[in-house]
Amino acid sequence: MDRIRLVGGNELNGELPISGAKNAALPLMIASLLTKDPLVLNNVPRLADVKQLERILENHGVDISVQGRRRGDDDMQGQRITFTAHDIVDTCAPYELVSTMRASFWVIGPLLARMGEARVSMPGGCAIGTRPVDFYIDGLQQLGAEIEIDGGYVNAKAPGGRLKGGKVVLPRISVGATHVIMMAATLAEGTSVIENAAMEPEVTNLAECLVEMGAKIEGVGTRTLTIQGVEALHGAEVDVIPDRIETGTYAMAVAMTGGNVLLKGANAAHLQAALDVLKETGAEVIEEDDGIRIVKNGNAVKPIDVDVSEYPGFPTDLQAQYMALMSRADGTSTIRETIFENRFMHVSELARLGAHIDVEGQAAEVTGVEHLKGAQVMATDLRASVSLVIAGLAAEGETIVNRIYHLDRGFERLEDKLSRCGAKIERVSG
Ligand code: UD1
Repeated sequence: MDRIRLVGGNELNGELPISGAKNAALPLMIASLLTKDPLVLNNVPRLADVKQLERILENHGVDISVQGRRRGDDDMQGQRITFTAHDIVDTCAPYELVSTMRASFWVIGPLLARMGEARVSMPGGCAIGTRPVDFYIDGLQQLGAEIEIDGGYVNAKAPGGRLKGGKVVLPRISVGATHVIMMAATLAEGTSVIENAAMEPEVTNLAECLVEMGAKIEGVGTRTLTIQGVEALHGAEVDVIPDRIETGTYAMAVAMTGGNVLLKGANAAHLQAALDVLKETGAEVIEEDDGIRIVKNGNAVKPIDVDVSEYPGFPTDLQAQYMALMSRADGTSTIRETIFENRFMHVSELARLGAHIDVEGQAAEVTGVEHLKGAQVMATDLRASVSLVIAGLAAEGETIVNRIYHLDRGFERLEDKLSRCGAKIERVSG
């Protein structure tokens, strides 16, 4: 298995291009199942999760064509991909394809809405019963679906072949449930309302794509979405928004190592809460026409408490990276995770680099140390892995990050991008 080897201590300087957002690209790709016409997506990142979802969509009968490179194209430019679901040949998403990526479960919404039926394997990590997909099931039932769970699969049917408009009140804000119910409602008969909807920029990206495809959605970007179902959707061309998590990750890396980096193509409005915190910690955040510039002089980092929350709050997907930054702060800070129960898996690995972190329940108290020291560490999930990379960039000596399979799921050409900015980082095969 590949590893990342890095030697810390260098400042980051230069330009770092931000890729299209993984968490936006995935639901947009899934939306292609809603129409027989082509859906063209621009700025799709080259990631393992995108490849895996392509396999799943192909299994349903989606034709996928990637536009080749053109003269003058930058090699960091996102892909332009056309998805055409002219005929859905299979409404089953099997375990072998779905088990590695939770988002692949989301195909249930469009399949059910367009074909009147879907059989989708429960996503990975569902050993404790139906809880992790309960919002999806309840929501689709509100739209008239008949659902049974059998042998690890969710079997859903729309009586008479078409879903019916209904009211869905999400018990708590869920990005995935909002994506799925919104997609399903676009083709339902009548009007649907989703209350307590997620308003993450990725949800807005999907809603705007659906509107381009002919869906009737009101309240985009708010907690209440009203969707008037239509008979059919048509093709469209849509841009994937820049990745706000990648942006925040590299912004924190610069805040840790010092330096001056333009995060090219980044959109500050999508991560204002995190940028505000970064400023308080002592980094300069400058919005420019073509991105966000992060400037950090010296290595003094002010400790600032953070409570993670849904958008527009501080994102849970930046919690691990922020913890890395706080581990070098001049004092103690408290980080509270409120979205996921078990999202402090990076703590023990950060401790191997010399961080002082005490976890109690959902809160981590981080006492900054003057120097982190390189070590061998192991990545446990996507965001945790990258927190180890940025901590390693600021640590003394060599850090080896093992099991980087997770990084490839969500960070495009990480070592390329960082080494262009002066980091000593390389991938070691095997
Ligand atoms: C998405 C993101 C993920 C991010 C998360 C929260 C993608 C591909 N993934 O994940 O990176 O960390 O939003 O911003 O976009 N829940 C239930 N029952 C359900 C559904 C959710 O209890 O049926 C709970 C979850 O366990 C969690 C909370 O709701 O505690 C929010 O999760 P949710 O927003 O649904 O996360 P995802 O959409 O899976």
